[in-house]
Amino acid sequence: MPIIELEEITRIYRTSAVAVEALKGIDLEVKEQEFLAIMGPSGSGKSTLMNILGCLDKPTAGRYRLDGEDVSGFSRSRLARTRNQALGFVFQSFHLLPRTTAQENVELPLLYREEGLSWKEIHRRAREALESVGLGDRLDHTPNQLSGGQKQRVAVARALVTHPRVLLADEPTGNLDTRTSLEIMDIVQRLNADGLTILMVTHESEVARFAERVVTLRDGLIESDERTEPLSARRELARWLAQAESEADDRTRKSEELKEVPEAEEVAI
Ligand SMILES: Nc1ncnc2c1ncn2[C@@H]1O[C@H](COP(=O)(O)OP(=O)(O)O)[C@@H](O)[C@H]1O
Ligand SMILES: [Mg+2]
Repeated sequence: MPIIELEEITRIYRTSAVAVEALKGIDLEVKEQEFLAIMGPSGSGKSTLMNILGCLDKPTAGRYRLDGEDVSGFSRSRLARTRNQALGFVFQSFHLLPRTTAQENVELPLLYREEGLSWKEIHRRAREALESVGLGDRLDHTPNQLSGGQKQRVAVARALVTHPRVLLADEPTGNLDTRTSLEIMDIVQRLNADGLTILMVTHESEVARFAERVVTLRDGLIESDERTEPLSARRELARWLAQAESEADDRTRKSEELKEVPEAEEVAI
């Protein structure tokens, strides 16, 4: 059974003047533990689709089954509960609370839990989630004391702390440099290997290559849906580090050669 099933999903935005048909009938099935990238030009409907998948918005028509349950008819509050229980979110701009520590940011989604976890359990789970993204030594740092990559790792930990079935990521590497992007994609691939289903919006084809399936939207419709052999982010990171190392070596050698030139001339004189 697919974990996500969309049938003829449409979404029409009605403003006072015009109606915009942002999604024109999307059919999509995502199996458990798939890692899917959603691509497409600006305005093609990626964010609209992610909002519906994330239970932040409802389709105008069509059916959305999440983990076997038809959520298209859910009330707003029921959707909010589903969102908190089944889904984790990572955004381009991190969306962390600025004056709040990493630990507290990660604890936040657990506070909305109706089963009422004990504080001890909440602290333990948040610590565990931060450790799993390599931030066990940054629990008390606030976002302004963290690098971009570290902030995104806190956001990933916050997404994971509720043990979601699906991770939804909207341009998760959009604000990060190459090396940090590779580190984040390495974490994402590891989570996927551990069983998490992942849907990631990206406009960069280099980032989409880490997914095993690439769905491309155009004008509110699926234009293509392709399976590919994903690149390993870990291997790409190793390659990137080796290259940076050898470029640094080159620079050192060049500056040493420059230093040697005047000495050689002095000897000649
Ligand atoms: N809240 C909204 N109200 C009206 N139109 C919207 C709204 N959000 C998006 N749209 C329109 O829907 C279309 C798809 O937008 P969007 O899903 O944001 O695309 P993408 O994320 O691929 O750039 C665009 O034409 C956009 O202008
Ligand atoms: Mg968008």
